[in-house]
Amino acid sequence: MTETELRVSKIQNGTVLDHLTAGEALHVLAMLGIDGSGGETVSLGMNVPSDRLGRKDVVKVEGRELSDSEAEVLSLIAPEATVNIVRDYDVVEKRRVERPEEVSGVLTCPNSECITNAGEPADPTFAVLDDGVRCEYCGEIVRDDITAHLGDGPQSV
Ligand code: CTP
Ligand code: ZN
Repeated sequence: MTETELRVSKIQNGTVLDHLTAGEALHVLAMLGIDGSGGETVSLGMNVPSDRLGRKDVVKVEGRELSDSEAEVLSLIAPEATVNIVRDYDVVEKRRVERPEEVSGVLTCPNSECITNAGEPADPTFAVLDDGVRCEYCGEIVRDDITAHLGDGPQSV
């Protein structure tokens, strides 16, 4: 049994986001649009010891199976993340997050002149670059501190 398992108990059904970059758990929740208002049970481990990463964060969301398209955005802040789908206490699926070509509705554009900040119903969309993201509307590039530009999260969740 690992240290992590001692800290955050196993779940019966749902999703375990494991090997998250240490310290990013709250950003991960914000990116997924999980703020507790949905009523789902959510457990967090922050800066827990990991053999592979030294330290890592872990997020467990009960009663909900995150799809690839929901989880891929996490690759921007937690490239080593694994998504574990748990059913009846067993891990039935384990995936790595893949870097998507674009992300939509998760980040806001830092350019105040951008149309996405003009109160129009335009969904901010960013092309994913090797070292950052680029606004599809105005071309503004964000390289550092992507989490400073998190929006209110996806509207669908
Ligand atoms: N987990 C859980 N509830 C379960 C089963 C697993 O919370 N019912 C968690 C484990 O604590 C672990 C993650 O899901 O954090 C992945 O589980 P598992 O594949 O069993 O662990 P490892 O083999 O250590 O995973 P990896 O090889 O990806 O490090
Ligand atoms: Zn823009």
